[in-house]
Amino acid sequence: MKFSLKTSDILRSASNTVVLLRYEKKIKDNIVKKANEKLKNFLFDKIGSQNFNGEFGKRVSVDSISNYKFNDLCIIGLGEKNKFDSIAAYRIGNIIASKLKNLSESVAVDLSNLPKEYFGIIIEGIVVGCYEYNRFKTKKQSVCKINVVDFYSKKISSSLFKSKVNEAKSISSSISLTRDLVNDPPNKLTPEILADHALRISKNSDVLSCRVYDENELSEMGMGALRAVSLGSDNPPRFIHLSYTPKNKTKKQIAIVGKGITFDSGGLCLKPADSMRTMKMDMAGSAVVLGVMKSVAELKPKVAVHGLIPTTENMTGGLAYKPDDVIEVLNGKTVEIINTDAEGRLALSDALSFAVKNKMTEIVDLATLTGACIVGLGMFTAGVLGNNQKLIKSVLDSAERTGEKMWQLPLDEELSSEIKSNVADIKNSGSRWGGAITAALFLQHFVGDTPWVHIDIAGPSFIEKPNDWYPYGGTGFGVKTIVDYLMSS
Ligand code: BES
Ligand code: MN
Ligand code: ZN
Repeated sequence: MKFSLKTSDILRSASNTVVLLRYEKKIKDNIVKKANEKLKNFLFDKIGSQNFNGEFGKRVSVDSISNYKFNDLCIIGLGEKNKFDSIAAYRIGNIIASKLKNLSESVAVDLSNLPKEYFGIIIEGIVVGCYEYNRFKTKKQSVCKINVVDFYSKKISSSLFKSKVNEAKSISSSISLTRDLVNDPPNKLTPEILADHALRISKNSDVLSCRVYDENELSEMGMGALRAVSLGSDNPPRFIHLSYTPKNKTKKQIAIVGKGITFDSGGLCLKPADSMRTMKMDMAGSAVVLGVMKSVAELKPKVAVHGLIPTTENMTGGLAYKPDDVIEVLNGKTVEIINTDAEGRLALSDALSFAVKNKMTEIVDLATLTGACIVGLGMFTAGVLGNNQKLIKSVLDSAERTGEKMWQLPLDEELSSEIKSNVADIKNSGSRWGGAITAALFLQHFVGDTPWVHIDIAGPSFIEKPNDWYPYGGTGFGVKTIVDYLMSS
């Protein structure tokens, strides 16, 4: 998809479709009036008959226009001006794409009303809005027709626009990669195959390197928790370490850790059939890490970045780990297994210990960790917990800038009695209450004093009820926030 910036009159555009974006109750400005005159009042008639007032996401269109060079004109409502934010901007991009992707090859979008900080997000929204997953459809579905998008605005310099396009293209292609990985079925995306993806990403770049530890190596290293989770499966586990080194020396070594459970059956504490469905998405954290590392290689932040992925299936084979087992984590702590379905925190415990052992200066982990987080915050918002309020704030700021919904939960020390064990240092699950918090308290045992933020993405990683801005399946949630955070570190 090609994007360019134009400062000329959008009504002279020769694109297939002209899109005008207008705030609520502010639709009839000069451009709209001029278009209406030329269309002999047909536009205002249509606006009137459809009762359109610029409400968010609503749209009025006039097709097959003969007295302009373009064919169709469409006005999309931006909603109330003072409510417009980065989330809205992203959705507008998604809506433009989903409405036009089967109709137009070239689109002209009037951005004259929008603050320039949203330009990049709209571009991301358009590219991501064209996303479709059809790897396993033998008859290919409709493909996105849009290949040229011209933006009309006098607010932004062409050099700033170019850098926004560059960034937005990188981020949206990473989001598509993350979505693909989450959507891939578990028989086609095993831990070994996930590791192959990491190796491929690093081979395509001269600023990335990648080391993959196999089941024997990770056992030798002492990753007893990841190994335990993997024992019930015939597909061997992997530990992936992708690293990015910036050109100039830096003290900041930032670890981005992603839960990579390629299928979570629950293990011996087997999930009921209904809850087991969609558990191919339990590697969404790792998919975010791979998407982020791809963009990191392209956008080259100033800090060093380490993508760490513990990946395994959680299955019920004859050697499967059991409730009552005691296992040893890489940092030496022992864990009593209460519930084999609380496997994510175990896989993460080795990865977090690895980050500390390798002297990372900051750690951010992303994990589809708890159903409790979805109960608390709903499908669309991630839970954020951590041991360092400054780091939490910078992650939340990045989330706000990029339009991803995240909400802080308290890391309430008083709940730590929930994971006290009689036989080992800690146990891997507590009672139902505060499940997202006790999971984070568990993780805290493995980060030492390193500033750390945990993002529970169980809700927003995967959407079962699609709408105008989310397709069915993986969303790529998290990529934008983490890339923004790394670029501003
Ligand atoms: N992968 C699940 C969490 C999950 C649930 C993600 C629903 C996405 C949608 C995780 O491994 C899990 O099973 N968590 C348990 C923890 C419990 C056993 C302490 C849960 O949330 O029920
Ligand atoms: Mn589980
Ligand atoms: Zn899980």
